[in-house]
Amino acid sequence: MSVRRLAKEQPASFTFSEATLEKARWWIAKYPPGRQQSAVIPILWLVQKQEGWVSEPALRAIAELLSMPVIRVLEVATFYTMFQLEPVGTTALIQVCGTTPCMLRGAGELMKVCKDKIGPKNHPSADGKFSWEEVECLGACCNAPMAQINDYYYEDLTAESLAKIIDDFAAGEAPKPGSYAGRHSSEPAGGAQTLTDPALYDGSAGKPIKSLPNAPKPEEAPAG
Ligand code: FES
Repeated sequence: MSVRRLAKEQPASFTFSEATLEKARWWIAKYPPGRQQSAVIPILWLVQKQEGWVSEPALRAIAELLSMPVIRVLEVATFYTMFQLEPVGTTALIQVCGTTPCMLRGAGELMKVCKDKIGPKNHPSADGKFSWEEVECLGACCNAPMAQINDYYYEDLTAESLAKIIDDFAAGEAPKPGSYAGRHSSEPAGGAQTLTDPALYDGSAGKPIKSLPNAPKPEEAPAG
């Protein structure tokens, strides 16, 4: 795992938005009194949704909100790679999977597209709208190569399809997530080969469930 440190340049302060604070309180209320620190991960996530990344003043604000030491919040934020410790592109953060199946299927070409269109990895583009990074397996190896862009997976990518997706984001559009090879989910290229009988899915093949010997009859079962 790479070393994860806070950004060298930090904002002077952080303020929770009303919406973030409301959601944070909802999370805190899920835990017993004195255990509010258990909400640290969802609240870090809410702050990242608000700001795009997690700054040092934000870590302090979270620690204060949860009555916990700042170092504990820092430990969580630096451990989980889903937390961005540096500013990211305001329009799109592209996380290209660089693990073996994606690499064998052309992840290197995807990274080249990102480099050409956005710039070096882990740095926002000149206009601040895009950034990209290489990540470990995102669990969609059947659809390699793939990338996560903001909250969604873009799969079965080629250099051309990824370039078009980036252009579409730059034009203010919201490119659809999923497979760019036209297949449904991770079914085989060319369509499903097994379990193709429609009767498997319309309920006609189902058998009635036998009731258990001591189960109450429907009219004896307690209401509600
Ligand atoms: S190797 Fe890329 S998603 Fe698993």
